[in-house]
Amino acid sequence: MSEKKIIFSGIQPTGTFTLGNYIGAVRNWAKLQEEYNCIYSIVDMHAITVRQDPVKLRQHSLEAYALIMACGIDPEKSVAFIQSHAPTHAMLNWILACSTQFGELSRMTQFKDKAAKHSDDVNAGLFTYPVLMAADILGYNADLVPVGVDQKQHLELARNVAQRFNQKYGEFFTVPDAYIPEVGAKVMSLQEPTKKMSKSDANPNACIFILDDKDTIIRKFRRAVTDSDSEIVFKEGKDGINNLITIYSAVTGKSFEETEKEFAGKGYGDFKTAVGEAVSDHLAPVREKFAQLMSDKAYLKDCYTKGAEKAMRISGKVVSKAYRKVGFVDSH
Ligand code: TRP
Repeated sequence: MSEKKIIFSGIQPTGTFTLGNYIGAVRNWAKLQEEYNCIYSIVDMHAITVRQDPVKLRQHSLEAYALIMACGIDPEKSVAFIQSHAPTHAMLNWILACSTQFGELSRMTQFKDKAAKHSDDVNAGLFTYPVLMAADILGYNADLVPVGVDQKQHLELARNVAQRFNQKYGEFFTVPDAYIPEVGAKVMSLQEPTKKMSKSDANPNACIFILDDKDTIIRKFRRAVTDSDSEIVFKEGKDGINNLITIYSAVTGKSFEETEKEFAGKGYGDFKTAVGEAVSDHLAPVREKFAQLMSDKAYLKDCYTKGAEKAMRISGKVVSKAYRKVGFVDSH
């Protein structure tokens, strides 16, 4: 038995990832594989809480799977799978729903935001979304969950649900903690650098997709909004430049000071081009690996079916025990 702690994280298959998803999340997932037992899921069941085009969802799920592999997730080292392939998540979801209060779900800010945004389809799945997320995590007795700030409240709910279940039925679930990476870089919009970089931004120049080609990446960086000053320093009030310095240091490994020195006396134009080139060079192997994986569907399928088998083996045991705990009759 290994002593390594268990990490679980999920990402929704809604189009290609942004540079923000990559630097802020998926790249770190790859690094965690050495130190932890990692379980990573493409959460297609979460995705259908808002309306999806089925053809696109299927394509996006495959692409997301190939993308996490292209970003360094090794399906031999980690458990990497597509959520809907492991029906244990839906099974545990029901059990946990019965230990979740209507009131606490009503307080979820993401639900309120999404309900306002999709007011014509405030479905029950959107409301109980955090319960499924709790099932994802608790089904593997994960110790740690790397999440961004927007998911903190959901993780807190998962902890409360685990504790409530444990109180009702006796100690069973591990109460998960948030995993806060040592260096967590937050990538902001290139057009409005006070806002987080988002794939749903109406302005196509605001966001870098990790599969963008070199010319596109450089063009978007050259159009990045900065300030009327001319110094390349990390300083309050220089949101645009701060964001570019953050990105540059995230992809080159250079510190902010080194970056400031490197570009002392140079103009914003030169700096923007340099950032674009550094990002493009950094992402080139990801683009290549992704293309290679997408051209070998049989291999990709082999990876995700084996991943789902491993996921089922782990979470299947947890679900069986939970069934017993709540008083269901053994089926075999
Ligand atoms: N809700 C998360 C998001 O939108 C995705 C997710 C689903 C997740 N299940 C998870 C993240 C479990 C961490 C752990 O970003």
